Amino acid sequence: MPIINRRPWDLPESAATPIDFVMNRRNIMCAGLGAIGAAALAGSAAADTPPAEAPPPGYEPAAMAYDPGRPLTPIKDSTTYNNFYEFGLDKDIWQAAQKLPVDPWSIQIEGMVSKPFTISFDDLMKKVKTDTRIYRHRCVETWAMTVPWTGFPLSQLISLAQPLASAKYIKFWTLEDDRTMTGLSVPFFPWPYREGLTMAEATNELAFIATGMYNQTIPKQDGAPLRLVTPWKYGFKSIKSIVKISFVDKQPETFWQTTSPSEYGFWANVNPAVPHPRWSQAHENLIGTDKVVPTQIYNGYGQWVAPIYAGMKQDRALFM
Ligand code: MTE
Repeated sequence: MPIINRRPWDLPESAATPIDFVMNRRNIMCAGLGAIGAAALAGSAAADTPPAEAPPPGYEPAAMAYDPGRPLTPIKDSTTYNNFYEFGLDKDIWQAAQKLPVDPWSIQIEGMVSKPFTISFDDLMKKVKTDTRIYRHRCVETWAMTVPWTGFPLSQLISLAQPLASAKYIKFWTLEDDRTMTGLSVPFFPWPYREGLTMAEATNELAFIATGMYNQTIPKQDGAPLRLVTPWKYGFKSIKSIVKISFVDKQPETFWQTTSPSEYGFWANVNPAVPHPRWSQAHENLIGTDKVVPTQIYNGYGQWVAPIYAGMKQDRALFM
């Protein structure tokens, strides 16, 4: 997917790794994983076909750009080291997640909107303009990766939903399918997985709905067919496999807040100076490498998102 209008957070083309190198590396990794792994990496729509051997038409190297000093995470690592608790508590749930039923898929829009509706994933994709974003992704567990997402700004979905002016928050739900999601049998968790943003956060240009990764359909383990990506927040805000969105006027309770309110809050903005009770947030491990690097406030996206919080108390709650 070409980057048509370059925004300040798009990494420069000069930093791009030659496409041949990227594609060759992908082939090497897929050979290593074997046929089952290759099918999984290809994602939901193409679950039985291996990943493309060559870039699709219209593909530009800029979409695979590298941040100087922070390369893209190899696809093998970002698609085999996951958090998707519906399929288990371990990081290696990618095979279990292949059971996720993604076709057909629809998204229900409800709450404070002019008219509630349900839209199929296919129809939604006809109504949005897709884009590529290379974002840093920071999990509160202190691992981090750098991923080229394809998808569309969340603001486009909000425009389609036509929320009322009185809506203050947007709430998201993940699919809850106990036939395929074995993790749902863990009664400790308040299923289904749910998340929320303020309208100011949701309409910020960085808030993104990803439907692809590395120019392929997003794999099931990474949240097919559509997931939220809010790169300035800890990764648990980036809810996967969204089936319902509601516009509300009260701050929604989130999955992790309900699970452990002393550890997880609503805001969850990345801040190296605010430790989690179990993990210092000062540094992060770049998965797929042995590199440990300093964490940046708002994961380095403060220039674009800090104004959202300017009038708020800059206390611990904003960063947990
Ligand atoms: N969404 C759902 N539905 N279930 C989950 O367990 N885990 C979250 C987030 N979204 C999670 C989820 C957490 S803790 C992180 S760090 C990211 O997904 C991980 O995304 P990735 O596996 O694509 O790296």
